[in-house]
Order: sequence, then structure tokens, then C-alpha cells
Amino acid sequence: MSENVRGVVARSKGAPVTLETIVIPDPGPGEAKVRISACGVCHTDLHYREGAINDNFPFLLGHEAAGFVEEVGEGVTEIAPGDYVILNWRAVCGDCRACRRGRPWYCFATHNAHQPMTLEDGTPLSPALGIGAFADKTLVAAGQCTKVDPAAPPAIAGLLGCGVMAGLGAAINTGGVTRGDSVAVLGCGGVGDAAIAGARLAGARTIIAVDIDDRKLNWAKDFGATHTVNSRNQNAVEAIQALTGGNGADVVIDAVGRPETYETAFYARDLAGTVVLVGVPDPSMKLELPLIDMFGRGGSLKSSWYGDCLPSRDFPMLIDLYLQGRLPLERFVSEEIALDGVEAAFEKMHHGDVLRSVVVL
Ligand SMILES: NC(=O)c1ccc[n+]([C@@H]2O[C@H](COP(=O)([O-])OP(=O)(O)OC[C@H]3O[C@@H](n4cnc5c(N)ncnc54)[C@H](O)[C@@H]3O)[C@@H](O)[C@H]2O)c1
Ligand SMILES: [Zn+2]
Ligand SMILES: [Zn+2]
Repeated sequence: MSENVRGVVARSKGAPVTLETIVIPDPGPGEAKVRISACGVCHTDLHYREGAINDNFPFLLGHEAAGFVEEVGEGVTEIAPGDYVILNWRAVCGDCRACRRGRPWYCFATHNAHQPMTLEDGTPLSPALGIGAFADKTLVAAGQCTKVDPAAPPAIAGLLGCGVMAGLGAAINTGGVTRGDSVAVLGCGGVGDAAIAGARLAGARTIIAVDIDDRKLNWAKDFGATHTVNSRNQNAVEAIQALTGGNGADVVIDAVGRPETYETAFYARDLAGTVVLVGVPDPSMKLELPLIDMFGRGGSLKSSWYGDCLPSRDFPMLIDLYLQGRLPLERFVSEEIALDGVEAAFEKMHHGDVLRSVVVL
């Protein structure tokens, strides 16, 4: 028997989201139905609503979530009803060319539920990042459920499901930040601040936070920024060089994803340094750089999909670090809201008033 629940839907490009009745099928083979306890509002949800990801409207938004497994389909053995899980959007297949080469964090064939969730009239919904968790319940592939210690409250744990994991992983996994490094982070939203927290966890010596909003720079200090730069008032490349002995940072993380921030990242790193792009650009954006500088400055230019994380390896570990007081995940939660507060939360995000609004059910 399918079930009707509430869900937050983006029906068309740029239109305000609406709370709708959605239909969740019973879990089929390899699938799981999850009762959502909390789900953070990520910039990527807004990108979906703006039509910047693709045109597959209507979208069921929400993808940074924690909850409890309610029912599993045939053949599911790794999770069971009652398990406390964080949902992930890269359930690795174990069988594609990346997985077979021992690089499952690049998996090119990640799993989602096979059956569509729908509106009441049968219109199939596109769940954001294959999750769709601004809803009482959702249907996912069983591999999208990662069990963690239930001592971590859902509003905090769920954030690891997307932006916070992407930022932490951009520093720790993709950037390979290590003890003594200098790191600069461009854009101090949820993703950038997580990159700052990750750099601190990894032992970076200098952590430079760059943003255009002083409020964000103040919050960045709480996550471990040793220096802040407002790039509205100062040239960020020069400021980062001045704070790193004139050389530039070992690792520069672009958590905005615009041509101008990427160019800053490119020139603000030391020779042979690393640039990590974790902010997601709009498909219309183009970058022009002298090819000789690509060569002459050496080093590596990387992108970070989901922080190159392996949910099964990283979520339980990071939750344990949080529970031990070594990772301040609770500081990302600016406010708890209800399911009908998502549109207002987009406004607050747009104005930079919050790090994360979290829907609590
Ligand atoms: N790679 C991934 O897997 C992944 C996962 C989640 C989110 N993201 C992306 O990461 C990006 C950041 O997400 P978020 O939730 O932190 O967003 P956010 O809106 O909370 O934060 C963005 C921050 O960038 C700052 N900013 C904007 N323009 C700037 C500029 N020119 N220079 C310096 N700072 C600037 C803003 O003031 C804000 O503090 C988004 O593009 C999002 O889609 C990527
Ligand atoms: Zn794979
Ligand atoms: Zn996200």
C-alpha cells in the first residue's frame, strides 16, 4: 500500500515552493522507506528551484537529512526498521569502473530508489539529489541510508548528509590538508565553514576565511579561521599572500563556485599548491585563464563531489568526533523551522542571515 505524506515541491522555475501531498510507494527490492526527523536547507535546493541543475520539474526538495528506517524492501540486509540513519546521495555501486579501481568515492553509477514518488495525480517527482527529504517520509535506495550513533540529534546529524560533509571532505579528502598547512576558504556559508572546521581538524596552521559579508566572517572564526578577509574591501589574492609570507596558501578551497572566486583561488595558492572547487557553478559560467599560468604555477586543480566522501566510512567517524566534542556540528544550525518554512529559509539564505535552517519534523 502506498502512503500519502506531506512534501515540499518546486513546481516550476523560480516559483515559490509549495507544501503538497505526495505519494510514497512501498519499498521494492533494494529500497527503503525512511521517516524523516530533520532536514537542512542547502543552497543546492535553491539551485534546483531556480532551474540551475536541470529542468526536471516538479522537484521534491530536501537532501540533508537524518531519520529512522521504517520499512525495507526485498533483499535489504544492511539496514532494518528502527535504524537511525543519515541519508546520502552517493550510494556506491561497487561495480563500476571507478569502484573496481578502488576509488569508490568517484563511483559513476550511484544508486537511488527505482520507483518514483508522485503527486496525487500521478505526476512523478524528481527528488533533489535522489533523496527528497523535505517530507514526512521518503523512498531511497537502501545504500543511501548510513547508520550512525543515535546519541547525535537529527537536526545536527542530518547536516553531514550534504553541505557539511562536502566542506569537511573538500579540506580533508580532496584537498588533503595536513598538519602545518596554510589554507584559504572562499565563501563562508555552511560548506565553507565546514571546510574551515575540516582544516582545523586536520591540523592546518593558518586558516584564512574570505567572504563579502562580515557576519559570515565572524562565524567563520568560531569554526577555526585564524584570519579573515572581506573581499569587498580588500584584494583577496594580495591579502592571502600577505598572510602566508608572500607566497599564497598551500590549499585554496572555492566554496562559492563563480569564475571570479575560482580565479582568486587559482592565484591565491602557493606554487605547486592545490585548488579545490566545491561550490557548484551555474552551467552558463565560463572561465578564461592564461594557459601558461596553468603550467607555470604547477600543482593541482581539483573538484570535490560531496567532499570525495565515502558515507559508510566518514559519517559514523564524524558523528563520533562530534560526540567527543571535537567537531562543532551544532554551530551550523542557525534555526529550526517547520516544513512550511522552507521558502522563508531560502530568503534568509539569500540574504546571508543563516548558516543552516533545519526543518525539524
Ligand atoms: N560539491 C558538493 O558536493 C556540494 C555540496 C553541497 C553544496 N555545494 C555548493 O557549495 C556552495 C556553497 O553552499 P552553501 O550552502 O555554503 O551556500 P551559502 O549561500 O550558505 O554560502 C555561500 C557564501 O559565499 C559568500 N559569497 C558569495 N559570493 C562571494 C564572493 N564573490 N566572494 C566571497 N564570498 C562570496 C556568501 O556571502 C556566503 O557566505 C553552493 O554552490 C552549493 O551548491 C556543493
Ligand atoms: Zn561504482
Ligand atoms: Zn546540499
